[in-house]
Amino acid sequence: MDGITERVLEGLATLGNSHVREARVFRAPGRVNLIGEHTDYNLGFVMPVALDLACYAATAPRVDGILRIHSRNMNDTRELPVDDIKELKPAGHWSDYVLGAAKEVALAGYPVEAADLVIESTVPVGAGLSSSAAIEVSSALAFLRGRSIDKLELVKLARRVENDFVGMPCGIMDQFISVHGQENRAVRLDCRSLGHELVPLPFSVRVIAVNSMVKHDLGASAYPQRVRECAEAVAVYAERIPGVASLRDLTAEQYRHFDEYVSVPARWRARHVISENERVLAFREACVRHDRAEMGQLFYSSHKSMRDDYEISCAEIDFLVETAMAHSGCYGARLTGGGFGGCTVNLVAPEAVDTFKQAVAEAYHKQFGIIPTFYDCHPAAGAGEASLG
Ligand code: GLA
Repeated sequence: MDGITERVLEGLATLGNSHVREARVFRAPGRVNLIGEHTDYNLGFVMPVALDLACYAATAPRVDGILRIHSRNMNDTRELPVDDIKELKPAGHWSDYVLGAAKEVALAGYPVEAADLVIESTVPVGAGLSSSAAIEVSSALAFLRGRSIDKLELVKLARRVENDFVGMPCGIMDQFISVHGQENRAVRLDCRSLGHELVPLPFSVRVIAVNSMVKHDLGASAYPQRVRECAEAVAVYAERIPGVASLRDLTAEQYRHFDEYVSVPARWRARHVISENERVLAFREACVRHDRAEMGQLFYSSHKSMRDDYEISCAEIDFLVETAMAHSGCYGARLTGGGFGGCTVNLVAPEAVDTFKQAVAEAYHKQFGIIPTFYDCHPAAGAGEASLG
């Protein structure tokens, strides 16, 4: 049994749960997105990997009709009558991700029983590594307590926690990869058909995430605003080209043909999404060819497109990207996740990982007075039950 599994089980005992012997533990990972940013809600392509960093949820039954949840990260507990779960409203609190999962499980027709649930996550919050999907998916599995559910149904259920309960209009990438992650593989997902393909990464590159340790508040309002701007661009093309229902349907040529009818900044947002979809497909090809230089170039073009067209970068992230690009052992760097802070993702030669980390940490500290955190991203397995043996 690993340390975190032990800790969440201990957490149940500390809460005074008297059925700890019936406890089960479920794990769901965070992710780093390699390429394909803000393309998921435009029904395009993404290519994330699941991480070793994950949320663990331990659950054991109660007999008094109460649902009690405890977060070890927040050191906070909430409880409510389990019968109220379907009527629950969000509270703007960490517990929304857990109780939202309980509500969606119940609404999907799986009765939620009285229980204690203890969570602990190693996915950093606000780092763009999908800490919320890890909580949603692990909590949903805990409330299901081993009842079988189709993987895609679980993905959609967890996304509804975000869209319908928390009120964040995100796409499907984070919940999808948390459920479908595979060891040693990236996952290229078509966000329209939801078909996916496992892509091995060349052995000769390491994926390193660098946490800027900043998260600018703007992100919360900018995300729904970007979603609206994309819809505004789609409306212009849908009037002119039959069959266009999302930015996914547009080629670069069709985009250029009518772009002057789209007002700025929606025009730039659409240009990012269309070029980013092309980059995901090209990146997949470059991976297969083990073409590290091309993979790195695509990373950097993606970054520039997010910085200039999608306008979701910030000074700290741009600095981390430029510093990384200047290091001889780094093939490419880009912002990853929703934007306005969080992490960069970097492709680094294995023998250069240590000097890369040192050079980036020193330069970043000198410029901003902040020590960044580094994560070696080994593609990990998707969500499931943790072994208690
Ligand atoms: C957040 C959202 C995802 C996706 C990314 C940007 O992580 O939850 O659905 O849109 O931002 O690529």
